[in-house]
This record gives sequence, C-alpha cells and structure tokens, in this order.
Amino acid sequence: MNILKLTINGQDHSKAIPATMTLLDFLRDEVDLTGTKNGCDSGACGCCTVMVDGEPILSCLMLAMEAEGCDVTTIEGIAQGNDLHPLQETMIEKGAIQCGYCTPAMIINGVHLLDNNTNPSDEEVKECISATVCRCTGYNSIEKAVHSAAAKMRGAHNG
Ligand code: FES
Ligand code: FES
Repeated sequence: MNILKLTINGQDHSKAIPATMTLLDFLRDEVDLTGTKNGCDSGACGCCTVMVDGEPILSCLMLAMEAEGCDVTTIEGIAQGNDLHPLQETMIEKGAIQCGYCTPAMIINGVHLLDNNTNPSDEEVKECISATVCRCTGYNSIEKAVHSAAAKMRGAHNG
C-alpha cells in the first residue's frame, strides 16, 4: 500500500491505496465521488474525464498515485454550493441530458473550454464535445448548451 495525498474539489485527502489503483477507481470507490463514470475502463469513451491541475484527463488511464500532490476537480466540484455553473444550467435548458452517463465528462471538458475561451468557434465546441461518447442525445443539443453557456458567461463578464 502507498499513501496518496491530494486535493479533490478543494478538500485534502490522504489514503493508503494499492499502487495499481486507477484515479477513476480511487474517486469512485475510496472517496465516494461517483459522479465520474466508468464507460469503458480503457480510454475509449471519455466518460471518466476529470481535471488534474486544471487539465482534463482520462481518470481510467491514470494511476491514482500519479495524482500525488495534485489538485483534482470532479463534476461534484463544479457547482458552487447551490449555484450551478452556466454550462450545467444550459445543459438542462437545452435538453442535452438523457441518461446522463456522459454528462459529467461533457461538463468537465466544457468548463475547461469556457474557462479559457468564452467565445469558442463551432469547431472548438465540436472538438471539445468529441472527447466524450454520448450514446443518447446526439451531439447537437450539447453543442447548443456549450454555445449558450458561453453567451451567458460573456454577458456576465460584460457586467
Ligand atoms: S472509462 Fe475512461 S475513457 Fe472510458
Ligand atoms: S446522455 Fe446518455 S450517454 Fe449521453
């Protein structure tokens, strides 16, 4: 067993874990953050995406011990208390959620995009969304949700 220390959604954690445990299994099984989904366990679907030190990564392909000392953000850390992120609001408004299995990863990637660019092009939005497989909605409503969230955030930034 190894001792892993890291920060998740602003909270410090320290746990003894096997060296071979993935970050995905650590999040879901050791700290009960089950919003991050396991769609394939092999790097193919994107559903396990979280941010590590501000960058989206596939948590099924990362060993938990590789996140030692890192700052991890999962879907549970995106809303601020009861205040949803604009993208969470627009995903609901645009009907971009059906079973919801892809939604946490779509939002993590979308928030990363919008944090860096509140005026993304169609291509940039499509590229962002293409990182995650959605088996339900098709991608149009998710694209609309990202554009709509960008517009909301530009409005907020403009005062
Ligand atoms: S569960 Fe990680 S890419 Fe599918
Ligand atoms: S909403 Fe079901 S997989 Fe995307």
